[in-house]
Amino acid sequence: MVLCLKVPKKAAEEIRKLLLQFDLLNTTFRIKSQEDWLLIPLSREIQETEKAEIESLGVAIKTLPCGLLEKIRTRPNSHLEILEKHVSKEEFSLLPRSFDTIGDIAIVEIPESMWDKRELIAKAFLDAYANIKSVFAKTGKVNGITRIRPVSFIAGENKTKTIHKEYGLRFAIDITKAYFSPRLSEEHTRIASLVQPGEIVVDLFCGIGPFALPIAKRVAATVHAIDINPEAIELLKENLRLNKLLGKVIPYAGDCRDVVEKKQLLGVADRVIMNLPGYAISFLDVACKTLKKEGGVIHFFEFVGGEGSPEEKIVEDVTREILKNHRSVLKVLNVRKVRMSAPRQWQMVADVLVK
Ligand SMILES: C[S@@+](CC[C@H](N)C(=O)[O-])C[C@H]1O[C@@H](n2cnc3c(N)ncnc32)[C@H](O)[C@@H]1O
Repeated sequence: MVLCLKVPKKAAEEIRKLLLQFDLLNTTFRIKSQEDWLLIPLSREIQETEKAEIESLGVAIKTLPCGLLEKIRTRPNSHLEILEKHVSKEEFSLLPRSFDTIGDIAIVEIPESMWDKRELIAKAFLDAYANIKSVFAKTGKVNGITRIRPVSFIAGENKTKTIHKEYGLRFAIDITKAYFSPRLSEEHTRIASLVQPGEIVVDLFCGIGPFALPIAKRVAATVHAIDINPEAIELLKENLRLNKLLGKVIPYAGDCRDVVEKKQLLGVADRVIMNLPGYAISFLDVACKTLKKEGGVIHFFEFVGGEGSPEEKIVEDVTREILKNHRSVLKVLNVRKVRMSAPRQWQMVADVLVK
């Protein structure tokens, strides 16, 4: 049973402030209105000195046990806090700690041994996080030419399209139709921040536009954005409309190797973005042909694993392949680990100035 203070509505605000000051206000219950009175929940009994101060506001103190007050529903802090009570210790240790959020969709990795508990797990996500409306489980690795991850719907709203916000931009994304990773958000803005006014940028593997849009928003540059997945290009166009950036990015659906030839993008670029780790190395010839004769910057993404320094390995690989294409690396501007992509494997990026 909670104690509460019955106060006239007229004096309620002043009293509430005083109760807050004394740490007497119980914020886990709702204040209740009863005609001209309010019932204010208390966290403990009022002491004599506190009583005197409250009464100096011209109100007689009336504390009552109050079963009428409604408890304010508080959300648990995490899915783990909920699931702790419903699974064994061993199962608890297997539960996903991290997950991806794309808009209001959570994408969760559920261990095979816990697949029969997937609905319980998904429900914990819905209950713990107010921003999550749908939960999907990963059912395989990002694969194929379009790099889409297979997923399976588990709970909440059965929809695959959402709006994801990243650094003030809104992205329409369908998780079953095109690649997108919220884990690259820092990389998207980092590269956009490097682009200078007047530059011509070619994004060879643009997806739904997470590099192209922040560039177009930040600076007066021309961005040619290519993707082999027509659904990604449709979403890119929708995103340009959503963010009022139509005309600032030129979208092309097709294989970048053909597009740069057919659309006269040879020798035009000050900067080429190559976010197709795993395969980007086999497109360095395209990037070299796309760069201006006098040179420019290539942002080269790759997965690097195994022994040795991943920083040294990516620089060696990109330098060697660029040389094969009759160009050379003038300077390595930056090399960094973007994220861990598998055990002992990193997604790396190297920004190289090419002549
Ligand atoms: C890893 S995703 C990156 C997408 C986007 N840059 C991003 O960061 O979200 C790679 C993209 O390259 C596209 N792709 C694969 N092969 C391609 C090719 N030969 N030409 C153009 N795009 C290609 C895929 O459809 C996919 O959207």
